[in-house]
Amino acid sequence: MTGGSQRDLSEVDNGGRRVVLGVTGSIAAYKAVEVCRRLVDAGFHVSPVMTADATRFLGAATLSALGSEPVHDSLWSDADPIPHTALARSADVILVAPATATLLAKYAAGIADDLLTATLLATRAPVVACPAMHAEMWEHPATVDNVATLRRRGVVVVEPGVGRLAGGDEGAGRLADMEEILAAVDRVLTPQDLAGRTVLVTAGGTREPIDPVRFVGNHSSGKQGEALASEAAVRGATVTLVTAADRPAPAGVTVVRVDTAAEMESAVLERAATADVVVMAAAVADFRPKAPAGEKLRKADGVPDIVLEPTTDVLAELGRRKRPGQVLVGFAAETGAVRAGAEDKLRGKHLDLVVANDVTAPGAGFGHDTNAATLLDAGGRWTDVGLTSKRELARIVLDVVWARLSRQD
Ligand code: CTP
Repeated sequence: MTGGSQRDLSEVDNGGRRVVLGVTGSIAAYKAVEVCRRLVDAGFHVSPVMTADATRFLGAATLSALGSEPVHDSLWSDADPIPHTALARSADVILVAPATATLLAKYAAGIADDLLTATLLATRAPVVACPAMHAEMWEHPATVDNVATLRRRGVVVVEPGVGRLAGGDEGAGRLADMEEILAAVDRVLTPQDLAGRTVLVTAGGTREPIDPVRFVGNHSSGKQGEALASEAAVRGATVTLVTAADRPAPAGVTVVRVDTAAEMESAVLERAATADVVVMAAAVADFRPKAPAGEKLRKADGVPDIVLEPTTDVLAELGRRKRPGQVLVGFAAETGAVRAGAEDKLRGKHLDLVVANDVTAPGAGFGHDTNAATLLDAGGRWTDVGLTSKRELARIVLDVVWARLSRQD
């Protein structure tokens, strides 16, 4: 996992849920090793199934060693006399990564001539297919039709990426990014309670220029906002993340990058009017240098007097503009009286929920992958969340958001 606070399957209690991991004969088969490892790390029970062609690219011993059980590769040599139905029934989800054009064609046509295709036909579990092939094959009308057929039947097809393909060619056909694949698995296993909702999240600490090379900033890493954005996306929302943090975009989230409080203000206000939910997790500067220098300040010119001016309180402005039914969530970064700070911010900024934390507490707040917080909603209910992952805190926050949205429906 690259971004510690992106929605990380390893932070979900997967309680031994079973993934049948189908691997087919694409050069991208080697990437199935990482997929398998990540799923096992996340607590899934992984049953690897390889086609005969897959074993030309990847040794079965590798997936047998990394998976939760030895590779299944035949309808006829398995200890179980009917391995496909056993695998099909036990699966919580079937993930085929990579899926070749042949696999898609057979599956669309209902052909079941090997263990993987027979398992796909026999299962009633959700199926996620991640195609990987040459661009010409991906774009061929036969493949296009097969993908459309599978999607119509409810199969989740994770689009391949564009980039370098086997043999040095370029184009669409690369196996999707690891995070996209894992997010798709996560999504099919997660109730889509935020489907149809538009969620705007902010993250990171703004940087207010002093001169072209220096800025006034803060310690916010953007991880809590990212976790909120990822969690909302996995629960089916249409999510935009306005972020001042320089980190990879979470899967399934539209990212708008900003630097300063002024840029954050215009990016957020522009989008907030159409959002059902706005979560201001960003650490927006309260003050900025009034007159940033156009050229680098020189040491030889002496210690500068930097005059600060206030920025707009974006959240307070959102509170003033709040439309009926919209849910507004603020954060309160405190260094002492957490509850008093939470109450002031909830009332003063017309919030539905405030997430307050003591940023000096061990393991919580800036930069950590964990957080602890006290939640206060507009109904006066307090919820203490002990030290947990930022992902889990995101889930708790969005549970409260969901409850408020449902009450208003
Ligand atoms: N916030 C904002 N615009 C600002 C400053 C803060 O939208 N210019 C938002 C933050 O995103 C957060 C909330 O206001 O959701 C609270 O931020 P915090 O810095 O804890 O408190 P302030 O309201 O700035 O008050 P104080 O610094 O006095 O605690």
